[in-house]
Amino acid sequence: MGFPKNFLWGGAVAANQCEGAYLEDGKGLCVPDMLLGGDVNTPRTFLPKNDPTAFYPSHEAIDFYHHYKEDIALFAEMGFTVFRLSINWGRIFPNGDDETPNEAGLAFYDSVFDECKKYGIEPLVTLCHYEIPWNIVTKYGGFKNRKVIDLFVKYATTCFKRYKDKVKYWLTFNEINIGMMGFGMGDLYGLGMMDEEDIHSDHRIPLNQLKANRQQTMEALHNEFVASALTVKAGHEINPDFMIGNMIAQSTVYPLSPRPEDMLLAQKEERIRNFYCGDVQVRGEYPSYAYRYFEENGIDPSFITEEDKKILKEGTVDMYTFSYYMTNCVSIDPTAEKIGGNMSMGLKNPYLKASDWGWTIDPKGLRYTLNELHDRYPNTPLMVVENGFGAFDQVEEDGSVHDSYRIDYFRDHIQEMKEAIEDGVPLIGYTTWGPIDLVSAGTGQYAKRYGFIYVNRHDDGTGDFSRSRKDSFAWYKKVIASDGEDLD
Ligand code: BG6
Repeated sequence: MGFPKNFLWGGAVAANQCEGAYLEDGKGLCVPDMLLGGDVNTPRTFLPKNDPTAFYPSHEAIDFYHHYKEDIALFAEMGFTVFRLSINWGRIFPNGDDETPNEAGLAFYDSVFDECKKYGIEPLVTLCHYEIPWNIVTKYGGFKNRKVIDLFVKYATTCFKRYKDKVKYWLTFNEINIGMMGFGMGDLYGLGMMDEEDIHSDHRIPLNQLKANRQQTMEALHNEFVASALTVKAGHEINPDFMIGNMIAQSTVYPLSPRPEDMLLAQKEERIRNFYCGDVQVRGEYPSYAYRYFEENGIDPSFITEEDKKILKEGTVDMYTFSYYMTNCVSIDPTAEKIGGNMSMGLKNPYLKASDWGWTIDPKGLRYTLNELHDRYPNTPLMVVENGFGAFDQVEEDGSVHDSYRIDYFRDHIQEMKEAIEDGVPLIGYTTWGPIDLVSAGTGQYAKRYGFIYVNRHDDGTGDFSRSRKDSFAWYKKVIASDGEDLD
């Protein structure tokens, strides 16, 4: 019992949050390159004119582009058997619609994957983790335009063909369901909520003020489903051994009280936030409750064509992967206390503590979630591809970082994953979010640190990008070496 010997242990990053080198070797501008930083109380702003006086954290990020050898060596030292990263679409097709791919971009990822192989680390590659070429937004309006489906599939198949002998594990879209949660972050996914005025704006637009058009968002999401399904099918034709997964931002919902109305509300929210996208990608069809949701929200579902339905059925995923950071409470009680923080949603759970960013800490919720997912999708292997603790770290005079709070967080979550495996859940891997400090997606901060590895880089743009090991580094190394047995 416990974690199997071939369990995949590692960490996860995204190109736009770690690579930097935002225009190097032919890379084109992408959506995250247009975002400035914020903090827990201040939303990130979007400033597309590339103001040279503004600080765009993704432009240099943690400079993984020039440090990848050093970073992968550190991951290998911890004993990683898997490393999740994304390919930056804008490095391969700088404008998204170029005739031929950019060889320098392809060569960069060849080197990264070779470096992983050197240490026996399996790459787990996300094809789109917000890195939508900016030209796709300005010229096509993002994924609400069906032409973008073909552009994505061309990009994905280019990667599949090039790396078919180097990469086995793939994910199509990171957190494809986030547009269902109303964060106003749909445009990170090129869902096309930005109008012409936003795209050409010369002033800062807070992300949460981008106008959301529900019909367009749902159509764009549908186009992503179709693009994902076509990609899965094409991938299996290129290499039948590929394991291609979806990726869901799992935001498990609890009723605040046993009131039947709260129970029903929790079920409804759970379906829309979490299961809606999983149902389409795992079962290959829209669930019945989706049609009621469309009706109640004035959405005309005629964008779901008969041909699309066939595509969705033929392109179901091989594994279900998800991020897990927190759980949320809901209630029909309008006086219930809300939880503060950025992107934390719902009501305060009186039984749980939260991080400095308001994200509730709920390890037992991970066991509950894994069991729920397995019950729902009994034939699909599961992988937790993000889980981690964003915190302010204190660097001591001798350079050490005593991050016992991070160790506690991981210990409790790993313990609950072990319980879930013993419950019979087919969990095949675990990649912690941010094994190395990187730029926060939600706030754009460096100060929200997740890593086992500290990076000397700060929100005022200072720091020399040097890396050092925090206390949690040795702890995670021990966990991996003992197959998850030694959690002390
Ligand atoms: C997930 C994203 O939602 O959460 C990551 O896939 C992100 O890109 C992570 O970094 C943690 O969120 P944040 O806002 O703390 O960076």
